[in-house]
Amino acid sequence: MPKPIGIFDSGVGGTSIWKEVAKMLPNENTIYLADSANAPYGEKSKEEILRLSIKNTEYLLSSGCKIIVVACNTATTNAIDYLRLHYDVPFIGIEPAIKPAALQTKTKKVGVLATKGTLSSSLFHNTSKLFADGITVLEQEGKGLVELIEAGEIDSPEMRNLLVTFLNPMLEENIDCLVLGCTHYPYLIPILKEILPSNVNIIDSGEAVARQTKTVLEQNNLLTKVNDNPEHLFYTNTDVKVLKDLVNDPTAQVSSMDF
Ligand code: DGL
Repeated sequence: MPKPIGIFDSGVGGTSIWKEVAKMLPNENTIYLADSANAPYGEKSKEEILRLSIKNTEYLLSSGCKIIVVACNTATTNAIDYLRLHYDVPFIGIEPAIKPAALQTKTKKVGVLATKGTLSSSLFHNTSKLFADGITVLEQEGKGLVELIEAGEIDSPEMRNLLVTFLNPMLEENIDCLVLGCTHYPYLIPILKEILPSNVNIIDSGEAVARQTKTVLEQNNLLTKVNDNPEHLFYTNTDVKVLKDLVNDPTAQVSSMDF
């Protein structure tokens, strides 16, 4: 049985990354951990985010994973340096896609919607400084969005109200790119498209993460070439319903357990 790719997130949002990974790497087995009991990570201290990231990593390694995808901007920006230093497998992370936004924007104004934990991290600040020279980056904390998505309330009046409140100040400043800096947010794209004017591009890095995962597997000789029946195991430490609904894939085996 080929060793699986391990993927973790503070909850159900990283399934947006899993979908891209499963599409790009159809022969790979995967194990996904949704740490929904501890969501949202974005409101926690750096130390707490690190402790939870270590716990998830150790579970995935004890399950035989050959590579770990940190499918969470908040965990990546606060913990990936530590994880890379202390564990002997490759780690793939996700950060708000400032660079592609800076290359695309014509108004030179870019909005970033992300958690407090991501926006306050030094990794995010360094990336912004490096790639957004001459560009105004308008940061907005998406306070409350992760909680609603975790509760399965994606298209609710409360969600729409929050999004309008968060986006209006950026639109008044004439942004033409909105960077989704949290892996939960791609599930909001249908509503965002209704709220945003058509000249605003939504930028999300799911596909880039899958491509990078493939490249790193190839470089490390870890790619699975043949696998007729790939296994996809999903674990949550809360109820399975929202996870199952969002994954929405017949090959996914979704269960609840403590980890
Ligand atoms: N999906 C996580 C991220 O990408 C959500 C963080 C949270 O739990 O607050 O940042």
